[in-house]
Amino acid sequence: MVRVVVLGMGMAASHYIVGLERIKMGDVEPYGVPLAGKLPIDISEIEVVGVYDVDTSKVGKSVYEVAKMQIGSDMPIPESLKEIKVYEGVHLRNLDRLGIEARGVEDRKSLSEALDYLVEQWSRLEPDVFINVITTEYATPFGDPNYLAEVIRENNVDEISAGQFYAYAAAVYASKYKPIAYVNLIPTPLANDDAFIKLYTKYNSVLLGDDGATGATPYTADTLEHLRERNRYVDFIVQFNIGGNLDFYALTDPDKNLMKEETKSSIVRDILGYEAPHYIKPTGYLEPLGDKKFVSIHIEYKTFNGLRDSIYVNMRINDSPALAGYMVDLARLGKMLLDQGFKGSVYEVNAFYMKKPGPRGSPSISRIVAYQRLINWLESNDLIVREYLE
Ligand SMILES: NC(=O)c1ccc[n+]([C@@H]2O[C@H](COP(=O)([O-])OP(=O)(O)OC[C@H]3O[C@@H](n4cnc5c(N)ncnc54)[C@H](O)[C@@H]3O)[C@@H](O)[C@H]2O)c1
Repeated sequence: MVRVVVLGMGMAASHYIVGLERIKMGDVEPYGVPLAGKLPIDISEIEVVGVYDVDTSKVGKSVYEVAKMQIGSDMPIPESLKEIKVYEGVHLRNLDRLGIEARGVEDRKSLSEALDYLVEQWSRLEPDVFINVITTEYATPFGDPNYLAEVIRENNVDEISAGQFYAYAAAVYASKYKPIAYVNLIPTPLANDDAFIKLYTKYNSVLLGDDGATGATPYTADTLEHLRERNRYVDFIVQFNIGGNLDFYALTDPDKNLMKEETKSSIVRDILGYEAPHYIKPTGYLEPLGDKKFVSIHIEYKTFNGLRDSIYVNMRINDSPALAGYMVDLARLGKMLLDQGFKGSVYEVNAFYMKKPGPRGSPSISRIVAYQRLINWLESNDLIVREYLE
């Protein structure tokens, strides 16, 4: 069994939990799960044991009720999800300025007390893996684990983000109960912060991140690899997304948008080896688009004999289900890494699934290359179903 706690009961979490249950019931095929059928842990072994949120319209409800509200008009919601509860998390400003009423444990407790409160709750839920899909937040790396501990001890609420707090609390849980894997699918630098890597290594735990790479960014990365391998010189890159979900609305906040821009832009220099001028950002919010975002990519490059070519790509992509499919793999990979005694972060996994793969200083590579390396790495560590390779 892989026991999972999900942080953030938004669109990605709804698709993850509902999709997982529908796969288990045989209602849908596991399309969109990159390593479906290839890992020794079966999808049916994943069990979501609790979810955390701070939106007052979600806290205290069941996952069934919230999922019904969010995606119930598109698909049936399995009744079994009435058993999973949405618990109150720490808010730490994430929904400020978004017009959503929020409350967090820290409203009535100090950070140290909030930490004890969560760790005690987790000691009963017994998670192996935490998956972070809360709203994009502004955060800067700590660098030193002692500084992190001091901020919590001194109750300096303005110096720590919710994603950082959860990752720290999960490490404390690991130190007391059992090693865990924390999967960070938002731009907050965690797998790219030495403070967290040191902490996780110390407690024999695994930290995967940062920021899931699902839509336009891996597509652009693969196109850049294609051009690099053919020695075509890229003059410029334009890549933008417009969506109508809460995630896109949150990104209209300049601090949150900057966090996304930082994780998205790292692909250019890393893959091409030079800094081609680029505009790669989540660009806007348009409500009628809903969760199906509009993506546009334009790349110009120099080709043989002094000529110039142009690439134009337009797509409409279901945003959250793309990430939800990755979550099915990452929960299993997290548990497998723990079982094999890995600690700290694992670049081979991050390079395929994440926009800004940790640990700090690791390059972003194209996903075509990353996928092959991941398969080879799983094979050399005996972590892949043998029949798949034959
Ligand atoms: N394809 C994708 O959807 C994709 C790809 C990469 C990364 N991401 C990241 O995943 C995250 C989730 O995406 P989404 O579409 O589900 O967004 P969403 O806005 O639908 O969900 C976020 C949820 O987190 C909750 N939340 C906010 N602050 C919290 C806190 N402090 N504690 C607990 N819960 C909190 C919100 O109330 C909301 O329910 C975003 O940060 C996004 O950047 C998404």
